[in-house]
Amino acid sequence: MGSTPPLSLYVHTPWCVRKCPYCDFNSHEPTGGELPETDYLDALVRDLEFDLALADGRELVSIFIGGGTPSLLSPAFYRRLLREVNARLPFAADIEITLEANPGTTEQARFDGYREAGINRLSIGTQSFQSAQLAALGRIHSADEAIRAVSQARTAGFDNLNIDLMHGLPGQTPELALADIDQALALGPEHLSWYQLTLEPNTAFHSRPPALPEEEALWDIQEQGHERLTRAGLSRYEISAYASASS
Ligand SMILES: C[S@@+](CC[C@H](N)C(=O)[O-])C[C@H]1O[C@@H](n2cnc3c(N)ncnc32)[C@H](O)[C@@H]1O
Ligand code: SF4
Repeated sequence: MGSTPPLSLYVHTPWCVRKCPYCDFNSHEPTGGELPETDYLDALVRDLEFDLALADGRELVSIFIGGGTPSLLSPAFYRRLLREVNARLPFAADIEITLEANPGTTEQARFDGYREAGINRLSIGTQSFQSAQLAALGRIHSADEAIRAVSQARTAGFDNLNIDLMHGLPGQTPELALADIDQALALGPEHLSWYQLTLEPNTAFHSRPPALPEEEALWDIQEQGHERLTRAGLSRYEISAYASASS
């Protein structure tokens, strides 16, 4: 029998301000009022208790809080969440705790609170820095808000950041895709996720597909984008994931 792999925890938060037309993740617009933070946290803890035996005495090396839009939930929610998890599972001394944050849902005090709660890495969902592409994707934020979110994250003390970018977007030329990469690189992220847009079943884009770049343009975007990312010192370790040596 082989040895057990390192233990990681994924925590999902299912709410978003608005559903993006390309997204097939488990994410929903709230039905109104405050998000039910206490009920949701109690449910997460019960869920963890069900699976606890599978941990088999291992310590947690990483926690990823994804969504949905985790940055809609308060620092107090994450303080209690991490306390509850840590009461049941030991944390490795160098545990990495990531939270996905959407531009347009963040502010300095919130990032400060996340850092104080014990989160030590943010993944900022930027997608593009061009207003035409952000509008086509139904995003709720501008490019400036995305840039500001990165700067607020640094001010809060996050020294480990990911930026999510997408490419192959409606109306996108290779030049625009490369401009997005250049802008992302200028922000100095330790990690960059660079996903080609896919039309997923059960999304608005699947039922009403937008005009996407032709095959040849997609190929140029792939080739030139990959070259630019690696030249900037990021190395690809998965199909869409690029990391700097420090991350
Ligand atoms: C869990 S999702 C969403 C994170 C966050 N809610 C946001 O939108 O910024 C993580 C990433 O997957 C990518 N993604 C989502 N749907 C996609 C699609 N249909 N095609 C390609 N990438 C997609 C986006 O880059 C997104 O930031
Ligand atoms: S904000 Fe993220 S998770 Fe929410 S609908 Fe848009 S892509 Fe999906």
